[in-house]
Amino acid sequence: MNSFVYDIPVKVYFGKDQLQHLPEELAKFGKRVLLTYGGGSIKKIGLYDKIIALLNAGGFEVVELSGIEPNPRIDSVRRGAQLCKKHHIDVLLAVGGGSTIDATKFMAAGACVDHDPWDFLSEKWAPIEKALPIISVLTLSATGSEMDAGGVISNPETSDKIGRIAAPMLPKVSFLDPTATFTVSPYQTACGAADMMSHILEVYFNMEQDLFMLDCFMEGLMKTIIKFAPIAMKEPDNYEARANLMWASSWAINGFVNGGKMQAWSCHPMEHELSAIYDITHGLGLAILTPRWMTYCLDETTVSKYVQFGVNVFGIDAAQEPMTIARQGIARLSDFLFGTLGLKSTFTEVGILEKDFPVMARKSCAGGVLPGFKPLAQADIEAIFKMCL
Ligand code: NZQ
Ligand code: ZN
Repeated sequence: MNSFVYDIPVKVYFGKDQLQHLPEELAKFGKRVLLTYGGGSIKKIGLYDKIIALLNAGGFEVVELSGIEPNPRIDSVRRGAQLCKKHHIDVLLAVGGGSTIDATKFMAAGACVDHDPWDFLSEKWAPIEKALPIISVLTLSATGSEMDAGGVISNPETSDKIGRIAAPMLPKVSFLDPTATFTVSPYQTACGAADMMSHILEVYFNMEQDLFMLDCFMEGLMKTIIKFAPIAMKEPDNYEARANLMWASSWAINGFVNGGKMQAWSCHPMEHELSAIYDITHGLGLAILTPRWMTYCLDETTVSKYVQFGVNVFGIDAAQEPMTIARQGIARLSDFLFGTLGLKSTFTEVGILEKDFPVMARKSCAGGVLPGFKPLAQADIEAIFKMCL
């Protein structure tokens, strides 16, 4: 087991009626606020009016940037960085799901440099040494962007979707009110659940020695998602279900479950290439890929992890042969994703074509090998893609 540093300095206000603390938190950073949001869901759900009333009462100067796309585009980031410079913004307030929060992170970093924000993500990989402070108000439980320092941005001109983690982009404060997610559609709730499951599985499925305590924690998170996602889909305003999903989304990816484990993710790099070309919902792409990736990586050297997963997460009978338990575990996960959550289960159903497999596979592994639970070269990734047809 490797040594590690635990340092997740995001102040979280969790629960209904916590938004009243927004003005005091914003005021710590200044008066000029860039309010960022997506395609308008925050207006439909009444959150926009609530926030504007709080900002007006607090005497803040507000500049707005709306229309941030799902799979957010670099042009939105560019616009936000320019607005920050033009209006001498002190703090960015991101209200929305992962796309809005991710884009806002790169706006905050872009505001501190003279170059194009795409340089942070292109092969130039410009350093991210500073960012303006960010406060987030989360409206969709999925990505964990509210409590991590990462973000993923698309560039339609180059068909790229690229992620980057940089400490200065970590939100200073995040407001997590489960009632803000009551209006999330069953489909987005399902995709969010699939995304959270994947964040955990990318860490859990790793042969390096694990902290037993963290494995139990991850199993608990997965059981939480499996229990509450279907409830939230059927009863959108079930507070307990929404609250469990919301807190699980943050803890799935905020860095705690990694411990000191050396890890490299597998399904995420593959999925980002799907949504780069086809603009599909991130969680849907992950749902289709994950059981196939697990099947592809299953062999005598990896089976013990699948046994642990099947027995501890799905309660499969531990007395059976390891390979039997492993296959049952994958089948139970597939039933959850495609049966219970009702997500489409194949590339064919979502229109992803075989002709794009070589380029998507090559970009997934950057032309080399995707290190991870099992190292995957381009040919392996193409084989996994074929299993998804
Ligand atoms: O745009 P609006 O109008 O806000 O509508 C959104 C959008 O259409 C809607 N929505 C959000 N909250 C709602 C709501 N609709 C009704 N009621 C609400 N309360 O849901 C749609 C999807 O929103 P989006 O923000 O795109 O979803 P998500 O949170 O799943 O974010 C996905 C993005 O995050 C990236 C993904 O790649 C993708 O680009 N990721 C970010 C990560 C990170 N920062 O660590 C990690 C993830 O693995 C992921 O890659
Ligand atoms: Zn994800």
